[in-house]
Amino acid sequence: MQTMPLYGRLVDRYGRVHNDLRISVTDRCNLRCMYWMPEQGLAFLPTKELLTFDEITRLAQVARTLGVTALRITGGEPLVRKGLPSLIARLSEIGFDDLAMITNGTELAKVAERLASAGLHRVNVSCDSLRPERFATIRRRGNLAVVLDATRAAEEAGLTPLKVNVVLQRNQNDDEILDFASFARATGRIVRFIEYMPLDAEGTWDRDQLVPGREVFERVSAVWPLEPLTEPTDAAPAERFRFADGIGEIGLISTVTEPFCGTCNRLRLTADGALRNCPFSDDEHTVRDVLRNDGTDADLSLLLREAVWAKFPGHGINEPDFLRPARSMSITGG
Ligand code: 5AD
Repeated sequence: MQTMPLYGRLVDRYGRVHNDLRISVTDRCNLRCMYWMPEQGLAFLPTKELLTFDEITRLAQVARTLGVTALRITGGEPLVRKGLPSLIARLSEIGFDDLAMITNGTELAKVAERLASAGLHRVNVSCDSLRPERFATIRRRGNLAVVLDATRAAEEAGLTPLKVNVVLQRNQNDDEILDFASFARATGRIVRFIEYMPLDAEGTWDRDQLVPGREVFERVSAVWPLEPLTEPTDAAPAERFRFADGIGEIGLISTVTEPFCGTCNRLRLTADGALRNCPFSDDEHTVRDVLRNDGTDADLSLLLREAVWAKFPGHGINEPDFLRPARSMSITGG
């Protein structure tokens, strides 16, 4: 029997060191993207169940002492949480090597400057189509022009490198792969093609709907040859490629067809204060109770260690007995 170490970095039973924490600051969103949320009837968490900025900051501080060096703010849509720049400022003071946020871009233009001066390093903007009508269909609400303006505002504010996340779905937007590649070449933004995962709130995911990363590689490189940028041992989920002529970069996130669990270094904190060691697992370790009942930093450290130690070797999507997680990703954090 292996025993969990009580000091040193956050490590699991398989030797994976965890230095990347994703903090969801809200389960709410101002959009209803098809791969992510139901159109109606989603019950949101009552405000008192959300971690406060004090609580989030405290947990981030403890995580930093355990070797977490990368922090990503997610949601829901993080910018619907009031006063987010002030949280960013507090997290920035702790000192992370990478402090990033994932956003749908709808509210970003207005606050990009403020976020940057609060200490945010960069943003990932979700954008699944470059065609206005299709964009609106996939998001059910929202406007492509607003999001594209926001990416420019973010770049002007220095929130770079700016990454654009594209969830590909068969017969939905896979005819835009080359348009997105061309967009990456024209703008210098890093376009990341993400395989559609069984995390949609409506539970309608089907393997036939995903577009394998390998296919994206083949379709893009047939037009513009690609060269790999990542070593196979890198922890980053994206396989990165640059265009051989030196203009631009794309990433492939092939969670389903080429799982990267073996190098996973990520841990998540849900908006209501539970640690989750994998978005595909139902295993949750609440920290909120500890935070609200005079728990010590040592208590929080122990919870962080236990959450990581309990991690499974892989997400299991390709196993016959795979069960979808009970709480969808918009609640647990993207
Ligand atoms: N499949 C893949 N990625 C998803 N995301 C959300 N839902 C899914 C899903 N079903 C990720 C994407 C998106 C962000 C909101 O979360 O990165 O851009």
